[in-house]
Amino acid sequence: MPPNATDTDFNADPEININNSKHINHGQQITKENTNNYALNIFQSSMNLLAHILIGAVVGVSIIYSFRGELSAFYLHIVLCVIGYQLLMAEAIIGLCPNSGWADSLTFVDKRRAHTVMQVVGSALAIAGSIIMALTKSVNWDTLHGQFGLVAMVFTAVSLVNGLTSLYAYEFRKCLSGNLSKITHICFGIVAFVTSGISLCYGFDKGGFRNWATPPLAYTMMGFTACFTFIIIINPTITFFNKSIRVFK
Ligand code: HEM
Repeated sequence: MPPNATDTDFNADPEININNSKHINHGQQITKENTNNYALNIFQSSMNLLAHILIGAVVGVSIIYSFRGELSAFYLHIVLCVIGYQLLMAEAIIGLCPNSGWADSLTFVDKRRAHTVMQVVGSALAIAGSIIMALTKSVNWDTLHGQFGLVAMVFTAVSLVNGLTSLYAYEFRKCLSGNLSKITHICFGIVAFVTSGISLCYGFDKGGFRNWATPPLAYTMMGFTACFTFIIIINPTITFFNKSIRVFK
């Protein structure tokens, strides 16, 4: 196969993608349909690359901000939440997309393993960061930043449990439908990730960050966060609708 040829069909559902790529890898010619998807593959790769760059910028700036002095509970909450949500959770979601970059050469089973490990570690860090900060406050959930952080934390916890029932869907099939488990896992995961992004934007709007970074940089960070959050949820949203339509048909 020439180096500039693509060998995967685009499909929002990673299970279908992997089946397609296996099919093609096992001796099939590049079909016209595959080459027609070339533009879509390039578009997806570019979008995912952009998301990786924006994640790097947002996480990097947040870490530089937090490590300027002593790492108090406040700065620790930023480091843990940003690494948990915007780095690990974001990359765990991108890893399941076609043309994700780092996960492209993995088999579907290994993609799922990588996703599970990153989600478990990311969720643990993010939940710990939120709890650490909540414990230092005498009045809780009184700001929009905190309230969106709380929603993100609750949905992350539910999505984590739900993710395990999706992973062991076959074993749980008697008490819980596999499809229902997967659909709700995707839905809760999207809500957790989006609300964490909103909470982060309110975090960047805090006086301490704006004074340090200057307002234009704070707004840039908010724009970057909104942009990569949108790019990252496109694929799971399509998968969510495809799976739901298949179930209700
Ligand atoms: C995804 C990232 C983040 C999440 C999920 C998050 C979550 C939280 C949570 C759960 C609380 C406790 C709320 C309460 O008990 O009422 C909190 C407080 C706080 N966070 Fe964050 N945080 C994040 C990033 C940031 C960033 C980047 C900053 C600033 C640069 C920041 C600044 C603050 C401040 C000033 C408070 C105390 C005041 C308040 O509750 O609004 N946070 N955060």
